[in-house]
Amino acid sequence: MSTPAPSLNPAPVVVAVGLSKRFGVTKALSDVSLCVFPGEVRALVGRNGAGKSTLVSILAGMTAPDSGSIHFSGISAPPTHARELWQSKVACVYQHPKIIPTLSCAENLFLHEIMRGRGLISWKAMRRAAREHFDRWGLTIDGDALAGTLNMGQRQLLEIARAVRQGSRFLILDEPTAKLDGKEVDRLLTHIRELKALGVGIVFVSHHLDEVFDISQTVTVLRDGKKMLDRAIAGLAKGELIEAMVGDASAGGVLAGARAAIHPRVARLKVSRLSCPGSFENVSFEVQAGECVGIAGLAGSGKEAIGEVLAGLKLAEAGTMLLDGIHLPGGNVSWHNRAGIGFVPQDRHREGLVLGMSVADNATMAVPDQLGKAGFISPSAVARATRHIIQELDIKTAGPGEIVSSLSGGNQQKVVLARALARDPAALVLINPTCGVDVASRIALFRAIIRVASRGAAVLLISDDLEELEICHRIWVLRSRHLTREFVPPWVARDLVAEMEGMAA
Ligand SMILES: Nc1ncnc2c1ncn2[C@@H]1O[C@H](COP(=O)(O)OP(=O)(O)OP(=O)(O)O)[C@@H](O)[C@H]1O
Ligand SMILES: [Mg+2]
Repeated sequence: MSTPAPSLNPAPVVVAVGLSKRFGVTKALSDVSLCVFPGEVRALVGRNGAGKSTLVSILAGMTAPDSGSIHFSGISAPPTHARELWQSKVACVYQHPKIIPTLSCAENLFLHEIMRGRGLISWKAMRRAAREHFDRWGLTIDGDALAGTLNMGQRQLLEIARAVRQGSRFLILDEPTAKLDGKEVDRLLTHIRELKALGVGIVFVSHHLDEVFDISQTVTVLRDGKKMLDRAIAGLAKGELIEAMVGDASAGGVLAGARAAIHPRVARLKVSRLSCPGSFENVSFEVQAGECVGIAGLAGSGKEAIGEVLAGLKLAEAGTMLLDGIHLPGGNVSWHNRAGIGFVPQDRHREGLVLGMSVADNATMAVPDQLGKAGFISPSAVARATRHIIQELDIKTAGPGEIVSSLSGGNQQKVVLARALARDPAALVLINPTCGVDVASRIALFRAIIRVASRGAAVLLISDDLEELEICHRIWVLRSRHLTREFVPPWVARDLVAEMEGMAA
């Protein structure tokens, strides 16, 4: 990427005026304007369903607005679907990196050229250029490695490297940190600062307000598709920002310390000497009725696998799992679910949802037996159950019949939790359950989880999000495949992180 020439009064990299977009009856965006200057990081925040991704998709040329105009560095935007022209104007990195796992990192970097098939590709030249590019951006990525072997943070960096390589001076990051652990987030934020110093203008979508305050100079708040706030970050109080997002400052209160009452000595979930090759070894713990136990660990620590084994998705090599004294056989999702395990998986797009089905079908598909007799499912029972769930979890949807793929990211996540709760589980196992969920909905989800525990369920919360872990009674840290240390409240966040990172004294 060439370094832009310094200028005293640079033209904004993007000026969007009066953008509106409707999806059927949903007004996703109403008359929204936005402007980003070179070297500016503009945060784009708002509750789930506020219209952030819709705005991103319009700015990236993936969706045509119903009305409004866009200019890049003073030049009118290309017609929608003129993909190549858009790619030279704006680079966009989504929450789910679009890399091809079976190609090498170098090939992924030059994917657009390869797909276009222009001329003969010199593999040697391509590998050299890839190495130079990775070095230039300080990325420790091996161009020859298969992209499928990268962890989430490296994939994201690879995607950013690819985006900026096409020379665009305007970069959009839609929830880039949602799937990253603390160290990876820091690394990403450092890269964003470097891009900013080179004069790239950036729109940064995040539900993590501390990141927003850390990295951005300006912020645009959307609520119900409308712009509620547009100002500099300097001097902005967190409460003011939350109020603009939620319409009520009190909704941003933290839930710290809100824990259910434990029923001591009633151990519902007992895990003994459980081992899963490559992920974790010799793991033993108990969760009592009403108790929420956390398993904290970095991305790649293997912590997710504990949840997957408990859910019956993965098979353990050794060890036992008992739920209310009953042996869980392992390797059978539907058996484990019927035995009383509710599960919120890590990757909702792969494991959590059937995107083409309705909210009602997704929320209730685990419990057909509770919604009618003798194999006939009563549509009115499904609708009733779903309406209750929509209200309880604050799901923003047109109704039970809406197709899940048209919900915003955060609202899809709430449907996943709804399904895990449908059978009133004896043990609820969750992996990063509020990932991508806005501040107010996060509180609704925490309340729902605490309610489940209060009814006497055992809750296992597998997470690297310190705010999520606040609702736990105890936290085990998984590092180097072993449970290394147990924390009880009040723990110091710094100590917990140091233990996860393996840097504890
Ligand atoms: N393709 C679509 N079809 C129908 N409705 C849609 C579509 N895309 C978005 N919507 C609706 O438009 C509204 C805005 O959604 P959008 O994805 O822009 O929200 P968001 O701010 O990105 O939320 P989140 O933080 O949950 O990702 C929502 O009500 C959503 O259901
Ligand atoms: Mg979104």
